[in-house]
Amino acid sequence: IEGGSKLKMLISYVDNLPTGFGALECWLRVMVKKFDVLSDYAFCSRFRKIGFFILNEKGLFYALDLGGTNFRVMRVQLGGKDNVIKQEFDEVSIPPQLMTSSCNELFDFIAEALAKFVASEGDDFHLPPGRQRELGFTFSFPVRQLSLASGTLINWTKGFLIEDAIGQDVVGELTKAMERVGLDMRVTALVNDTVGTLAGGRYSNPDVVAAVILGTGTNAAYVERAHAIPKWQGLLPKSGEMVINMEWGNFRSSHLPLTVYDYTLDAESLNPGDQIFEKLISGMYLGEIVRIVLCTMAEKASFFGDTIPPKLSIPFILRTPDMSAMHHDTSPDLKVVGSKLKDILEVPNSCLTMRKIVVAICDIVATRGARLSAAGIVGILTKLERDAPKEGEKQQRSVIALDGGLFEHYTKFRECMKATVDELLGEVSDSVVIEHSNDGSGIGAALLAASHSQYLEVEE
Ligand code: BG6
Ligand code: GLC
Repeated sequence: IEGGSKLKMLISYVDNLPTGFGALECWLRVMVKKFDVLSDYAFCSRFRKIGFFILNEKGLFYALDLGGTNFRVMRVQLGGKDNVIKQEFDEVSIPPQLMTSSCNELFDFIAEALAKFVASEGDDFHLPPGRQRELGFTFSFPVRQLSLASGTLINWTKGFLIEDAIGQDVVGELTKAMERVGLDMRVTALVNDTVGTLAGGRYSNPDVVAAVILGTGTNAAYVERAHAIPKWQGLLPKSGEMVINMEWGNFRSSHLPLTVYDYTLDAESLNPGDQIFEKLISGMYLGEIVRIVLCTMAEKASFFGDTIPPKLSIPFILRTPDMSAMHHDTSPDLKVVGSKLKDILEVPNSCLTMRKIVVAICDIVATRGARLSAAGIVGILTKLERDAPKEGEKQQRSVIALDGGLFEHYTKFRECMKATVDELLGEVSDSVVIEHSNDGSGIGAALLAASHSQYLEVEE
């Protein structure tokens, strides 16, 4: 607990978000097309020289993303002719036993996957000779950053629990593992997925003020005025800003009512007492809450008849994608609900009333999560004081970059979340845009790796 709050509010050391073309992009492209004489990049270089804006992000960079459903490695070619961003990625699921293994086992697995990915590189991607490969590492767990490229793990969340990694510098651990597999690569940026998503979002849209992940876990990052951060001890950054990783998943308050089902879920989790907000909202837990409710109904009210379906007592057997499929079932006899109950919970015959009740439970659980996440978003906007224009000022547009499987695939959750944001914001809701930033965190991490490249000074 820091500052008496359950929110960790971690300093990210990101004080300068990637610029991309920012607001000049459209104008620039129109000019380039119209005169057809200069590539975008040549144009950019000129503007950089005369100080209109900075475009530092160019070259080949790598990104590694650990902490969502899948582990991802990516290469991104930034800049060049037409400023095309070329990217390629590989997705691997983390073997479940590695999530509770040892620090070396986990990082060796990651380094090996990375080495394999590098070995498969085609001709489309160019690394200038003699140059070391550089990596942006998205590590989606709470980390106390020591600098942009180092930080110690505070604790694990989302079903990971590797004791000997807690307190270690995760960049140091990854670097050692890369050395063990003979991969010459340097981590130049360590970022949380929310921070990566914010960076990726800002690159393509200058109005992005915050990023939210609604996936396996949930969290948010936003741009704070540096002088408003009491725990920031360093010099004030030139930009006057600093990205804060809120770790909002750990929020807990007496104003946040918990049910008996939430207490049961918390008690059976790998991190009891922690990540309470996350346990009410995120994809890892919603299906499990529904299972616990159904289990209680089976035990206390014989909901499934005289016997309790044995599968119902297996924690996490009902996954959120299955819950979502039942919730979205529009068939008159709720066929999907019937088959999920049969296939997953081994309930052979479910009547229509029973199925309707199951849908209603899914709806209650998803609606609560969606409304709470909307409250979090409006909380950030309120903190940023961008919700109401001052006298004589024009309403600023605020874009929230959102990513994660829950947001992307659970339509009713997404719609309810958006509707609640509008409801809470009232009149000013027109100036707030929630934008899906598909895999923005990978691109964001590569961009941050680029803007902190060891070769930057030399090239400038
Ligand atoms: C991805 C981001 O798109 O969403 C990751 O690139 C993030 O950084 C992930 O962790 C979260 O989604 P999920 O649903 O896989 O947990
Ligand atoms: C968990 C992690 C956090 C991450 C979030 C979304 O809450 O603690 O760091 O951003 O999941 O992936």
